[in-house]
Amino acid sequence: MKFDTLEYRKALGKFVTGVTIITTCEKDGTPRGFTANSFTSVSLEPPLILICIGDFNEGLELFKNSEYFAVNILNEAQVDISNLFAKPLKNKFEEIEWSNSKFGVPIIKGALAWLECKNFDQKRSGDHLILIGNVKNFHNEGGYPLAYYNGNYISFNNETSLVNAMEKDSKTIIGAIIEKNNSILFFDDSKNNILKLPVIGENGEPSNTTKLVNKYSNIGLKISLDFVYSVYEDKRLDAVCIYYRSKGYETIPKGYKYVKFNDINWEKIKDKALVIMLKRYIEEANQGDFAVYMGNETTGLTQTLK
Ligand SMILES: Cc1cc2nc3c(=O)[nH]c(=O)nc-3n(C[C@H](O)[C@H](O)[C@H](O)COP(=O)(O)O)c2cc1C
Repeated sequence: MKFDTLEYRKALGKFVTGVTIITTCEKDGTPRGFTANSFTSVSLEPPLILICIGDFNEGLELFKNSEYFAVNILNEAQVDISNLFAKPLKNKFEEIEWSNSKFGVPIIKGALAWLECKNFDQKRSGDHLILIGNVKNFHNEGGYPLAYYNGNYISFNNETSLVNAMEKDSKTIIGAIIEKNNSILFFDDSKNNILKLPVIGENGEPSNTTKLVNKYSNIGLKISLDFVYSVYEDKRLDAVCIYYRSKGYETIPKGYKYVKFNDINWEKIKDKALVIMLKRYIEEANQGDFAVYMGNETTGLTQTLK
């Protein structure tokens, strides 16, 4: 049987992991780090953990020879940090807040937990180095973890915010982010200078996914809602907003058009929460790095905007 690498990567993507940033310093004190989800706890006595570092990783030699390194377990609000540290850049730490730990390795501000480890053992295995660390110091914070599944980020807190919002009986707006060839489908209300996504529930009318799909199918657009991309409470609109990554088929209704990511006129999107969400979405969609490590999955994001 031929071994199908793409399918294999997809199978691996079914395993839910957290997301960590592995950090250390160069001899001159320059902080270095990369995003890793291969973190696993190995032993309690002594306390050992492991991470796997790919041969493609710029920091491989540095981590291999480091005396200490840290594992920063990200919280759900740190998607940007995960994306940043998944790029082969030299100046990643200029973009974030961090401090030096007891053993002189970088600790990322706001991490859900961090572990300072002494380089304990290592083994080359295939195209990765398995680096085993002996945990010498650690710290825990409250909050929710950032999780990674099937090439996408997920946030457990979404469910909580959804339940909280439903209990509050607020208005629910359900919308679709319909993407095709680096473009998003908008309703272009040129008279009022407004760009809007396909939604249901903005005027307080009853909303659910079936109603959203039916509303647009009545005007010729067939929407397939793939999965929840973002859930947030919009205090200004007094609404819970749930946006789905979606695909659109058949007719583009009158007044709607696909706008290229680069051509979106952000001034025309009045809802600032929507602007933040869409900018993140575009950044994710443009990210090539996930594909390198996790296969050719398109990337997405499900995060609570507060
Ligand atoms: C969610 C996620 C998990 C990753 N996990 C690992 C990992 O466990 N090991 C690894 O070597 N690279 C992993 N990567 C890829 C590295 O973060 C990426 O190659 C990065 O560019 C390495 O940084 P560097 O080249 O500056 O050293 C992951 C990327 C993402 C987005």
